[in-house]
Amino acid sequence: MRSEMEQDILKVLITEEALQKRIGELGEALYEKFQGRRPLFLGVLKGSFVFMADLVRSCPLKSDVEFIAVSSYENATVSSGRVKINHDLQQDISGRDLIIVEDILDSGNTLAFLKDYFLTKGAASITLVTLLDKPSRRTKAIAADFAGFQVPDEFVVGYGLDYCQEYRNIPYIGILKPEVYGTP
Ligand code: PRP
Repeated sequence: MRSEMEQDILKVLITEEALQKRIGELGEALYEKFQGRRPLFLGVLKGSFVFMADLVRSCPLKSDVEFIAVSSYENATVSSGRVKINHDLQQDISGRDLIIVEDILDSGNTLAFLKDYFLTKGAASITLVTLLDKPSRRTKAIAADFAGFQVPDEFVVGYGLDYCQEYRNIPYIGILKPEVYGTP
């Protein structure tokens, strides 16, 4: 039976099984790239927390884990363009090979800002990994090094992604019913 929360979902876009299979492939690709090195997985909260947990477990490298929390949507469906750091890095990243882990690359504002920010903090290299890529909405010249799935310009939630902080705990990626956020 569908939960009350799931009644707001128009359709399942990516199933749990498809997510796990693809994340396994991403983990292998990262293992190949970083074998013999010790990268720092850097999750961009909040959206990435579920993906991050599965990705690090699919990649058997000696590595470290760190988080930064930023937001730019402030409960809106379109990025404000201003990226706000809500919780900063808790360690020195100078000289480190970073694997930035995002749930979605949309306008590119967040990752463009973070890439510059981490370079000014002395990162040795930056590899961008995003679970979802929505290239149709890109306004910044930024591309992921590894992307799980290309998604259409629909409002997607679940597996860490929210609308007004809800739906992050849905285990798959779903498209939200337009009446939930109001048609533009
Ligand atoms: C979402 C998502 C990415 C960003 C992507 O974060 O987690 O960080 O938007 O969009 P962009 O490419 O247009 O910048 P949000 O600001 O909603 O915060 P959250 O991760 O806490 O949900």
